[in-house]
Amino acid sequence: MANNIVELFKKAYGVAPVAVSNAPGRLEIIGNHTDYNDGFVLSCAVGQTTAFAILPIDGDICEMRDFRDGSCITFDLTDIDNPIKGDWTNYVKGMICELRKRDKEVKAFKGAILSTIPLSAGMSSSAALEISAGFAFAEVFDIELPQTDWARVGQGVENNYMGLQSGLLDQFSSIFGEKDKLIFCDFRTVTVEKTISFPHGYAFVVANSMIKHDLVDSDYNLRRVACEKAVEILKKEKYPEITALRDVSTEMLKDSKDILEEVDYLVALHIVGENERVIKCVDALAKSDVETFGQLLYESHESSKVNFTNSCSEMDILIDISKTIPGCLGARLSGGGFGGITIHLTKEDEAEEYCNKLKAAYKEKTGIDSETIICSMGSGATVERVIT
Ligand code: GLA
Repeated sequence: MANNIVELFKKAYGVAPVAVSNAPGRLEIIGNHTDYNDGFVLSCAVGQTTAFAILPIDGDICEMRDFRDGSCITFDLTDIDNPIKGDWTNYVKGMICELRKRDKEVKAFKGAILSTIPLSAGMSSSAALEISAGFAFAEVFDIELPQTDWARVGQGVENNYMGLQSGLLDQFSSIFGEKDKLIFCDFRTVTVEKTISFPHGYAFVVANSMIKHDLVDSDYNLRRVACEKAVEILKKEKYPEITALRDVSTEMLKDSKDILEEVDYLVALHIVGENERVIKCVDALAKSDVETFGQLLYESHESSKVNFTNSCSEMDILIDISKTIPGCLGARLSGGGFGGITIHLTKEDEAEEYCNKLKAAYKEKTGIDSETIICSMGSGATVERVIT
């Protein structure tokens, strides 16, 4: 794709870019909404990426093109403090604003992106755009930051510019993902605890419910508030030593049911259960126990549906269908939820047939054409100078 974007850039601007970065989307394998609770997540970078080509220019006016839809948007560097509704360059402008807060200057440029990540589906197309922009800026404007800080800059865009109080998972996975590996992340220490080889002969199928997933307009932020409220009460009334739901076990939580409001209790139950399931998955994978791994994915979805209520009927239908197709070991919603994608663990040589059966059954039940992808696990973000 890098060569392709260079050619398209030359055609559009009449000159070659100086650098091209590439940042992958991500899949949350398990560990739903645990990242902003100091918790654990098993994730991976995917083969689908966003490439960002850049050429520094004089002045204050930046020009950005998206070669996927042909759009071209200009903005003035002296007037980017507020996002414009529906403008995809918000993620680029947000990066510039977040970098300014860290005394790092992005000057004017001509830029372009070419992405293969499905939009607004739950594979973190926005984080990939942020990180690809960040790595391109780093290369041409000599900005040096530790890798985890780049993830924080991207998170800052979501939190401060876009108004979504998300955690670090998406940007972190886009940077630290490794080819053919799952990464076991600890969001208290903000590190990759270990990388895990994906079991041989199995694949993840991504099935999009096609229900629009726009987290900014969803209840995402409310769930985060509920988590914080649960911690506050548990800390005050019973466990002074805790600072996050990471420090709470299912047993501790169940013992405290009567001091929490029911909705906060259920939200916390999901998070605490997810943290425990991530650890169980890591153990199961260490023993190549794919059956247990798959079962835990189903348990995760059930908890999303019942406790955290971030599923929707269409996603539940996809999960129910998965249980009727032989060869599926487990499935769950992946990412923020409230629409978007589900992931399905299948045998690799049956994955294509699985996609066809799943799509046909989903169409029959909902009238909706789902999109499926047999997922490959890609490398983390990179940037290269263009040699002309
Ligand atoms: C979105 C957010 C992440 C994370 C997931 C849910 O992708 O951006 O920070 O909270 O939802 O696990």
